[in-house]
Amino acid sequence: MGRVAIVGAMQQELHALLEAMPDESPLRRAGREFWAGHLSGHAVVVALSGIGKVAAATTATLLLAEFDDVDRVVFTGTAGGLEPGVEVGDIVVADALLQHDLDASPLFPRHEVPLYGTDRFRTDVALSDALADAAQRTLAAFGGVERLLAGATGASQAAGTDPLGASAIAAPPKIGRVHRGLVVSGDRFVSGRAENDALCRRLPGALAVEMEGAAVAQVCHDFGVPFAVVRTISDRADDAAHVDFTSFVEQVASRYTLAIVEQWLAE
Ligand code: ADE
Repeated sequence: MGRVAIVGAMQQELHALLEAMPDESPLRRAGREFWAGHLSGHAVVVALSGIGKVAAATTATLLLAEFDDVDRVVFTGTAGGLEPGVEVGDIVVADALLQHDLDASPLFPRHEVPLYGTDRFRTDVALSDALADAAQRTLAAFGGVERLLAGATGASQAAGTDPLGASAIAAPPKIGRVHRGLVVSGDRFVSGRAENDALCRRLPGALAVEMEGAAVAQVCHDFGVPFAVVRTISDRADDAAHVDFTSFVEQVASRYTLAIVEQWLAE
């Protein structure tokens, strides 16, 4: 078996993963950063793509060209919730990725990737199943976003401490849900109710929006490398999106990413 690659757009999203890699050796190519090392005893490459589809596509291309033993790519980080019920602190595992801002009509139907005959790239089913299981176990171990933001860790809960006090016992916090389905990508941070509604109307069933996944999916399709996306919902892609986002990434998303990857690799 080859190496697993884990890619994220922002340093903060990868923070916990990199902290957990004692032997990381960094490599810089074309302004992109790669760290080769080990996680839970498995050889991995972690890559920082930067934000947006072009940055993600170049990173994925460099990654697969430089590290030719990489045989699975997982894109991780945060996403904005689109469908009702996809809430902050939930985790979304993509079944397929689509570029919501791609429109070569009237030459090709809206969203279709020219000359690929499709508007979406499917993720690897076995990889996505394994990540969804790992995500479910992660949510159960952490016990919900409220607990994390209140300063708890999976370990402190296991030891029986409860940072939320007695009220948490009376009304247990929601631990979050794992969703599977369509994730859409575009070069826009969606931060308004009107834009969110328009996306939901145009792409019914789209669970979440982010800025890189569909680009990396296309590169992995071209290289024939299995690919998956697992992201923590950081905001509802509405008028409060920018307010929620920054503080959430390091405190919750980065730790969920590390836990999901460790749970998955431990299988
Ligand atoms: N990533 C996290 N939240 C997002 C949003 N609201 N729009 C685009 N990408 C995101």
